Order: sequence, then structure tokens, then C-alpha cells
Amino acid sequence: MTNAARFREIYERSLKDPAGFWGDAAKAIDWVSPPKTVFDPSIGVYGRWFPDAKVNTCFNAVDRHAITAPERTAIIYDSPITGAQRKVSYGEFREEVATLAAVLQDFGVTKGDRVIIYMPMIPEALFAMLACARIGAIHSVVFGGFAARELATRLDDCQPKLILAASCGIEPGRVVHYKPLIDEAIDMADHKPDAVLVLQRPQEAAKLQAGRDYDWSALVADAKAAGKQAPCVPMAATDPLYILYTSGTTGKPKGVVRDNGGHLVAMAWTMGAIYGVGPGDVFWSASDIGWVVGHSYIVYAPLILGATTIIYEGKPVGTPDAGAFWRVISEHGATALFTAPTALRAIRKEDPDAVELGKYRLNGFRALFLAGERADPDTVKWAEEKLGVPVIDHWWQTETGWAIAGNPFGMGMLPVKHGSPTVAMPGYDVRIVDEGGHPVPPGKMGSIVVKLPMPPSCLPTLWNAEDRFRDSYLTTYPGFYSTSDAGYIDEDGYLYIMGRTDDIINVAGHRLSTGAMEEVLSGHPAVAECAVIGAKDALKGEQPCGFVVLKSGISTPPEQVEKELVARVRDQIGPVAAFKLAMVVKRLPKTRSGKILRGTMKKIADSDSFNMPATIDDPMVLDEIKVALQGKGLAK
Ligand code: COA
Ligand code: AMP
Repeated sequence: MTNAARFREIYERSLKDPAGFWGDAAKAIDWVSPPKTVFDPSIGVYGRWFPDAKVNTCFNAVDRHAITAPERTAIIYDSPITGAQRKVSYGEFREEVATLAAVLQDFGVTKGDRVIIYMPMIPEALFAMLACARIGAIHSVVFGGFAARELATRLDDCQPKLILAASCGIEPGRVVHYKPLIDEAIDMADHKPDAVLVLQRPQEAAKLQAGRDYDWSALVADAKAAGKQAPCVPMAATDPLYILYTSGTTGKPKGVVRDNGGHLVAMAWTMGAIYGVGPGDVFWSASDIGWVVGHSYIVYAPLILGATTIIYEGKPVGTPDAGAFWRVISEHGATALFTAPTALRAIRKEDPDAVELGKYRLNGFRALFLAGERADPDTVKWAEEKLGVPVIDHWWQTETGWAIAGNPFGMGMLPVKHGSPTVAMPGYDVRIVDEGGHPVPPGKMGSIVVKLPMPPSCLPTLWNAEDRFRDSYLTTYPGFYSTSDAGYIDEDGYLYIMGRTDDIINVAGHRLSTGAMEEVLSGHPAVAECAVIGAKDALKGEQPCGFVVLKSGISTPPEQVEKELVARVRDQIGPVAAFKLAMVVKRLPKTRSGKILRGTMKKIADSDSFNMPATIDDPMVLDEIKVALQGKGLAK
């Protein structure tokens, strides 16, 4: 039987007999009480997985391996940016997590409470996540590249009892002072956490506020001396494990909820079936724990399977050179790497002939996985040629937690088609529909939707926002989950993801809302109206580009306003927005009914051809936009 025929059988079974398929996958998990029902369509918004089961995620990711293989390495921390390295065995991991969990309990944290984690890529960030999972607290990790205002929004939305933080993050050439950001966020937010536990890193000792801030290491040392350890708390499989905020179409991010049971089953299954990784293998996902890729494939999936995960605090280039990724794979014996195409583009730009690669032996390295943005065929081909292993694009979203489409490396690879993340994965009934929700023929572009129910691990709802969940995902195409991505399926069933249908852009694999940036720009006192688009960028995929019209009578020079706007987005959203292009224009192109023609502006910025919109109010405005863009080196 060919790989394709075997995969088709597996895939079809997953859709025809989901209870059998996921019931079998559930055997990889140690349940407190195993599921009698695999899926109940009558509960929740579209049904719930494993509704009668009880389980603890931390037990599955830590304790069970600490019992069977205490000496096995759970975490390899490699930080070229600080020069530090550390290995943590499953035995030590259990001890650290159980102790920190006891510390959290001393602060009154209990099942269902929320805890915000604001930390860089260090092992303690994983201790924090797993300590929450252990006692049933719901963690919400906030990426270190976000500004105080973003943190404040999350504080108010999930109302955490505690914040777990480090004193600083480290970016090339600068220390990111976390503590002042946290203080500012708490000042801004209506909700005040009871306490902030701060891990003082050697690079920076943060100032602690008496009565609210505590020294993490001192608390852990005291708890160890007192022999305090918290046991794993049994959770309903449907209880939330974490909330991860992601960009929506407004400035308010969406709190994607992940449950315990479905997530455990999907993580364990994908690690073997999609990535071909088994217990004891070293797996490296070069993302950040602040993103979904980090949650799923730095933290949960490798640990649930008993593999070794690499925590890398560095960049693909500049820490110290374009060979950094190859060094880490070689030094730690990684079997697979998962990264964003932008990272490869950065490496290729600096080292097009892969001279650095020649310095390392990548003996056990079996595959490179890419996601987070479209993998351009050029970059994929370069990596295939230089690495000599399969390079696998796969497509997914924060909402799903794992690949909607991919190439099932662990089950036997399907032929690669460059530009396509291959085929729908088991559990996902993916369709392409037109605006009226009617299926379109192969090869024709449309909206990508998934027939309900979604498979295990996919979001059951948004945190405290069930109506928003329905409105954002389920009402446009009744009976289907709307991905907000557009694309097509070819005659062979291969999917092609061509872009978003909403105002989300993708910058260096980071998902950003142009709507949120527009809110920040229009808050500037000189701005009358504005539009933000994602312009094509050779390195980061897209870069945000803001156009503003000033209020009449503003005497501040336009260059000054532009500088203030760039600083404003950095201050209010964060450096991760990579907002560097603001331009003052006289007018914005609009339809006669007043709708801003963002799509046409993007085409001009990207030097793509376009048809003059029939409803445009004044075509001359497009020339003005082009001149403004040319002034910034775009729109050739
Ligand atoms: N904490 C604080 N700031 C951060 C940060 C963090 N954890 N991560 C990134 N930033 C900052 C960067 O320092 C940069 O700031 P600057 O404007 O002062 O230079 C800004 O946010 C933009 O970051 P990014 O877009 O990631 O670019 P970069 O300069 O850090 O890295 C590449 C450039 C080429 C290396 C980048 O494309 C890359 O590989 N990014 C990571 C891709 C990734 O992992 N995506 C996750 C999805 S899988
Ligand atoms: P995030 O929720 O941050 O993971 O971002 C999800 C979005 O990133 C998707 O909706 C896509 O628009 C984009 N994306 C992720 N992976 C891919 C991929 N392999 N190909 C094309 N787009 C992708």
C-alpha cells in the first residue's frame, strides 16, 4: 500500500468514526478516570471531547516520565544570548514543578484561578506553566515583545490571581526590562493581581514592591527546605488548561481557551503521527512560549510524549552567526526542527551558500517543519537542497493548537508540492466555499472552512466571550468553523493557503491585527483618519505600513508626526509589531460610500497590478499613495 492510500484510510476513518479514532488515540494518555464517551455533540457550543473523563496534564507531561525514566533529559536550555546552558532531567523537572506548584498554593491559587506568565525562554517558564497545570490553575502566557498596554488588556480580561515573571528578557543589544512593564500594566488595568513572583535573572535585579512582589527563588528555596510539594489535581477533561490571547479584528485580543483532555490526546497523537518523534528523541521548536507553536511543540507535545525539548534563547542570525540553528541541532542531537520560514530567510540572506552548515554534523536530523506563515517555494527549495532532509510546511492557527493541514511525516510522507502545506490532517473536514457558503470546484479560490465538530484540542470557546466565539468563527458559515484564511484545494486534495480574509497580517510569523494598529494611530491627537496595511517584505513576509491624514490646522511637521506614530505603536502594542513605516498623506482612497480601499493600497505597495475599483471616489488619490510609498522605498 502506498503512503497516500494508507493515509487516506486513516483520514477517512477519522471523519467517519471520530469516536473510534480519537478513542484509540486517547490510550496514549494516563487518565485519572478514562473517557466512556469520546465526543458529546450536545454540550458546549459545538460539542465537547472526553466530557466524562478526569485527567491531569502535568502528570502526563512530567510525573509519569519522572517515574519511568527519571534520568532522561526533559529540557535542554541553550542560550547563546547569555552563554548559559542547562539540562533538566524528568526527575528534577518533577521536583521543580511540584515545589513551585506548592508555592502557588501558598498564595491561595487553586483550581480554575488564572495566572499570567510573562517570561523569556528559560526553563523556569516551563516550570511555571506546568506548575499551573498541576494544580488546575489556568495559565495565560504573554509574549515578552508586547508592551504594557497589551499586558493590561489581558490582566483585565482573564483577571489573574498572580503574575509569574522574570526580571528581564534579553534581545540582541538590549535588556528588556520586564518589571517596569508589569508595574505600568498593573497601574493601567482595573484588575489588580494579588502578587507578582519575580525570578531575578543575573542580568538584572528588578526592584520589588513590598507587599506585592516576591522573590521567586527565595520562595522556592523556602518551600524546598520545608519539603513542600503539591500533588497533581484531577481535572475534568473539559476544564481549561490555558488561555492564549491572539490578535482579532479589534484592539481587544481573543482569549483562545484550550481544554485538558482533548489537548492531551491531540498533542500525543501529533507528536508521533505528524512529526515522527518518540519518547527520548530530542525535538526542537525554535519559537517562543508566548505563541501557540511554543505552547504545543516547545512545551506540551514533546513532554507529554516523554521526549526532550530544547529551550532556545537566541535568534537564527546574530547569536552569534547564521550557523546558530545548525550548531544547536548538532550539539544536542535534535531529530527535527520546527521554525518559521522567516527564520530560514534570515539565515539564507546572511549565508546563501550555507557555509556555516558545513561546520556541523547533523547526524540524527530527520526533518524540518515550517509554519506560522506561507512557506515560499524558493526558501523551501533552498532548505531542501542544503539540508538534504524533508522540509515540511504545515498550516495551523492558535485556535486549533495543531496542524489543520500538513504532511504526515510520522505516518509516511506524501509527495511534496511546493507552495502547499499538503493535505487536511485527520479530524479536519476542510472545504473551500464562496461568499454564500457554497462549495467551489478544485483550483478555485474561496474561504477555507472546517466542518464542525472541530477535532480534539481546538478551542471550545473564547474566554468569557461565547458570543464573540460564535460571531467570529461560526455564524458566517453555519455548521462550519471559519478559518479566516483564503485558498484553494487542487485536484489531488492539496491545500494552498493564500492569505487572510480579515485584517490580520503576518509579520515574521507573528500574527498582528492592523485594526489594533489603526486604533493606536487614530489615538494620536494630530490624526484625523488612518489605514494600516501589510506590505510585502522579503524577510518578514509582511511589514505593517500606516497611512494617516492629519486634522486640519496641525502645524507639526509630518516627519515629526510620523516618528511619534512609530514610537506610539511600539509603546502601546510593543516592538513585536515591527511598525516602522508611517506616512502622512493628504487623503485616503475611498469608495463613494466612504470605505477605505486597503486592498488596492496593498497592491500599490507590493507593486502588483490591480484593476481600478469601479466604485472609487477619486482615482487621483491612488497616485498620491504611490508617491508616498515611493518616498519610503516601496511601490517601485
Ligand atoms: N521580547 C522583547 N522583544 C522582542 C521579543 C521578545 N521575546 N521578540 C522579539 N522582540 C523584538 C525584537 O527585538 C525586535 O525589536 P527591534 O525593533 O528593537 O529590533 C522586534 O520585536 C521585532 O521582532 P521580530 O519581528 O521577531 O524580528 P527580530 O529582529 O527579533 O528577528 C528574525 C528577525 C529574522 C530573526 C525574525 O524574522 C525571526 O526569526 N523571528 C522569529 C520567528 C518566530 O519564531 N515566529 C513565531 C511563529 S512560529
Ligand atoms: P497563529 O494563530 O499566530 O498561529 O497564526 C495563524 C495564521 O498564520 C493562519 O490563519 C495563517 O494565516 C497563517 N499561517 C500559519 N501557518 C501557515 C502556513 N503554513 N501557510 C500559510 N499561512 C500560515
